[in-house]
Amino acid sequence: TGVPAGLPAETPSAPAAPAAPKEATVLFGSQTGNSSKLAKKLTKKLEEQGLQVTLASMNDFKPNALKSVSHLLIVVSTHGEGEPPDSALAFHEFLHSKRAPKLEALSFSVLALGDTSYEFYCQTGKDFDKRLEELGGKRLVERADCDVDFDEAAEQWMGQVVSALGAPAAGAAASTAAPAAAGGAVESEFSRSKPYAAEILENLNLNGRGSDRETRHLEISLEGSNLQYEPGDSLGIYPENDPELVAELIEAMGWSAAEQVAVNKNGDKLPLGEALRKHYEITVLTKPLLEQIAKLAPGSGVGELLQAGKEQELRAYLADRDLLDLATDYAIKGVPASEFATVLRKLPARLYSIASSPSAYPDEVHVTVRAVRYEARGRARKGVCSVHLAERAAAGDTLPVFVQQNDNFKLPQNPEAPIVMIGPGTGVAPFRAFLGEREETGATGKSWLFYGDQHFATDFLYQIEWQRWLKDGVLTRMDVAFSRDTDQKVYVQHRMREHAKELYEWLQAGAYVYVCGDEKKMAHDVHRALLDILEQEGGLTPEAAGEYMARLQQEKRYQRDVY
Ligand code: 2AM
Repeated sequence: TGVPAGLPAETPSAPAAPAAPKEATVLFGSQTGNSSKLAKKLTKKLEEQGLQVTLASMNDFKPNALKSVSHLLIVVSTHGEGEPPDSALAFHEFLHSKRAPKLEALSFSVLALGDTSYEFYCQTGKDFDKRLEELGGKRLVERADCDVDFDEAAEQWMGQVVSALGAPAAGAAASTAAPAAAGGAVESEFSRSKPYAAEILENLNLNGRGSDRETRHLEISLEGSNLQYEPGDSLGIYPENDPELVAELIEAMGWSAAEQVAVNKNGDKLPLGEALRKHYEITVLTKPLLEQIAKLAPGSGVGELLQAGKEQELRAYLADRDLLDLATDYAIKGVPASEFATVLRKLPARLYSIASSPSAYPDEVHVTVRAVRYEARGRARKGVCSVHLAERAAAGDTLPVFVQQNDNFKLPQNPEAPIVMIGPGTGVAPFRAFLGEREETGATGKSWLFYGDQHFATDFLYQIEWQRWLKDGVLTRMDVAFSRDTDQKVYVQHRMREHAKELYEWLQAGAYVYVCGDEKKMAHDVHRALLDILEQEGGLTPEAAGEYMARLQQEKRYQRDVY
C-alpha cells in the first residue's frame, strides 16, 4: 500500500519506517460484551501508536462510510447456531447484499470469537473475512479464531495488527489515556482475567415447596472491589466442578488425586483433584479436544469417531456427553494426567444477567440462577455453575466474580420513554434491576412486564417486589403466563397477542422492547408474535413488519439478552 496523497512527508527522525497509515476503523459486534471490550483494547493500542482510530459498534456504523475506510479491523462473536449477534445483524446483512460497495482500497483483518463446542465455530467472523475479500479487500493479517478462553489468541492477533499498522515504537506518541474511567469512577483492578473474591451475603431458593424447579437468588458483596455495573450488565462467575464427578473421572482414568499437575503455562502446579475441580473443563466435549485425545491415546478408538463421513455420529456423540462418558466408552484409561491436562480447556466463567439495581443496592450485586439438573444415560447430570451455586456456595463463602458490561441491554437514556419487558423464568432477572433503577432515579416512563413460568403458586419469582412496584406505579402493568396451571399451555407470547392492540400502541408511542431468557424457543416465538402484531394492528405486510423490527433494533429500541 502506498502513502495516501496529502500526508506530510516523514520527518528524518523516523528512519526507514514503513509508511505509517494514519487511520483505522475498529468495528465490533458483541453479544455478551467480549468483542466490545477487545475492540476498545485494540483501539487503545493503535492510538498509542499514533493512529487515528474510529471505534464503533456495527450497530452504530453507517455502512456507506465503509468506502472511505482504508484499514478495517473487525472483532465479532458468533451467536447461537452460527448467527451474528443482534448488534451485528444489519451490518452483516448489508455487506452480504447487492448494495455492498466494492472495497478494493481496503485492508482488513478479523478477530473471530467463538466456542469450539458449537458446530458453526466462529462462523460470523469467517463470514466477514470471506465477504470482505470478495468485495476486493486485502487481508492485513490473517483472521484469528478464538475459543472461549480467548485472551491469548486475541493478544497475539492484536500484536500482529499493531505491528502491521503501527509506527515503530520509538516514534510512538506517549499514551494519553485518562487515568480514570468515564464519570469519574475509579476503575477496578478486577476483571475477567483477575476476578474478585466476593463474599456471598445470601443464597435463597425462590421456588416454593413442590416446584419442579430450584432457582437461587444470590446476594453478593462487591464492597472494596471498586467493581461498578449498570442495570443490563452481567456478572461473570467462575464455578467449580462437582467433586464427585471429579473423583469418578480420576477413578475411571486410573489417575491419583494427589498427583501434581500444571494448571497454567507458568508451570504452577496443584494436586490433580483440585486442578480438575477449579481449572479445567470436564463436562463439555469438543471436536478439537477429541482430536487431541485421539493423539494421546492412538489405540483407544476415539480416532474412529473423527473419521470423515461420520460427522452426524460425532455431533450426536458430543451433544451431551462429558469426559467421564468418553472414559467409559473408549480405551483412554492410562493416559498420564499431566499430558491429559495440557489438552483440556480452561473452566470458563458463566455470565448471569444482574438482577439488582446498583442504586438500590450499593456495593452489592444480585443474580438469579436456575439449577440445571437432568438425567442422561443412567447418570444424573448437573449444570456446572448453577449446581455449584445451589449446592456448594453458602453465605460467608466467596466466589471469583467480575462485571461484564453489556452495552446491548440498557435502559433508555430518556427516563420518560416507555419500556416493555419480556422475561419468562430467570429471564426476569434484569427487569428487577431495571425497575429498581427506575424507582431509585424517579424515572416516570411507563413500564409493562410480561412474565411466565410453570406454576403461579411455586414459581412466581420476586412476586412481592413486582406487586409493590405495581402499587407504587413504578411498574405500570404486568401480564403473567403460568404454563402448567391450565390444560392448555400459555406462554408470554400468548399474553402479548391477547393485548396486541395496546402493545402496538406502546410501540407506536416509542416504547423500548426488551427480551431476556431462552433463545432457541422463547425469543424466537416472541419475535414471531411481535411481527404478527405489527401485521395485524399496523396493517403491515410481512416484509414491512420485518423492516419495522430491524429499525427498532437499529434504534436500540429492541434489545435482547438471550441464552
Ligand atoms: P413450560 O416449561 O411449561 O413449557 C419459564 O421457563 C417458562 O417459559 C415456563 O413456563 C415454560 O413453559 C415457558 N416456555 C417454554 N417454552 C416456551 C416458548 N417457546 N415460549 C415461551 N415460553 C416458553
